[in-house]
Amino acid sequence: MSAKTIDGKLLAANLRAEIAEGVARLKAERGFVPGLAVILVGDNPASVSYVTAKEKACAEAGMLSREIRLDADIAEEELLAKIAELNADPAIHGILVQLPLPKGFDEKKVINSIAPDKDVDGFTPVNVGRMMIGEECFLPCTPHGIIKLIEFSGMDLKGRHAVVIGRSNIVGKPVAALLARRETNATVTLCHTGTIDVASFTRQADVVVVAAGRPGTLTGDMLKSGAVVIDVGVNRIPDASRPKGFRLVGDADFESCSAVASAITPVPGGVGPMTITMLLWNTLESAKRR
Ligand code: GUN
Repeated sequence: MSAKTIDGKLLAANLRAEIAEGVARLKAERGFVPGLAVILVGDNPASVSYVTAKEKACAEAGMLSREIRLDADIAEEELLAKIAELNADPAIHGILVQLPLPKGFDEKKVINSIAPDKDVDGFTPVNVGRMMIGEECFLPCTPHGIIKLIEFSGMDLKGRHAVVIGRSNIVGKPVAALLARRETNATVTLCHTGTIDVASFTRQADVVVVAAGRPGTLTGDMLKSGAVVIDVGVNRIPDASRPKGFRLVGDADFESCSAVASAITPVPGGVGPMTITMLLWNTLESAKRR
C-alpha cells in the first residue's frame, strides 16, 4: 500500500477562510475584531519560528495580533503582571504564552495566571477539567487539529482503535481524551516511555498518533496494513544541503510508514498548520462569546 498524504495545509486553508469570514462578520455586526496576545520569553529558535507563524496567521485572518517579546532574564513577577494586564484588556480575547518557558520560570504558575476565558491554548487547569467532563471550553489546539485531520482523511473513528504514543500535557493526554469522547467514540490505548512493547499495541491500531518527540519512534513494521498515521513530531536534523543547515522530520519514519499505512500526515505540512488554525478558531470563539 502507498499511503495518501493528509494535506494539513489544505485543510488549514479551508478552515482559515471560514475563520476570516467569521472575523469579517463580527466586525460588521459588532464593530470589533478578535485580539490575540502572543507572549514569547527568550529567543529559543523553534519558539521564535512558531510565534512568528501564529502572529502572521492571526493578521491574515483579519485579527488583531499583539506581540509581546520579553528577555529570558526578566523576573517572573514582570511576566505575571503582563498577563494580568492582558487579562483585563477588553481588546484582547486570547492570550498565549509560548512554551517551554526558559529555565527558572514556574510554568504551571504562569499558565494558571491566564484568565480561563482567554486561555485559547486550552492549557489552564480550568479548561483541561472542563474538557475532561465535557463542558464548554477551549479545546487544546494540537489535539483538536488532530481530530479534524483524522476526519479529513475520511476515517470514521467510531469503534476504531486509536493508539497514542506520548503522554505530554500538550498533546498525548488531551488527544487520548478527545478520541475517547462519546461523540468521537474511539477505543484508545495510550503508550509512553513506560510501555514495554509499543509495537504490540500499534500493530492493532486503526489510527496511530505519534507525539513522542523522537525521530524514528514509529516505523512501517509497527503498523497494521491500512492504518492512518498522524505524526505530531517536529525534529530538527542537521542537513548541510539545506540553507538553514537543518531539515524537519517527524516522529514517524515517513518512507516505511507510507508503504504500510493508508494515509499519513507529512512533516512539515501536516499537524503544524492545524495547530495554528485551531488557535485562530478558539480566538474567534472567545471574541464571539463576549
Ligand atoms: N509549545 C509547543 N506547542 C505549543 C502550543 O500549542 N502552545 C503554546 N503556548 N506553546 C507551545
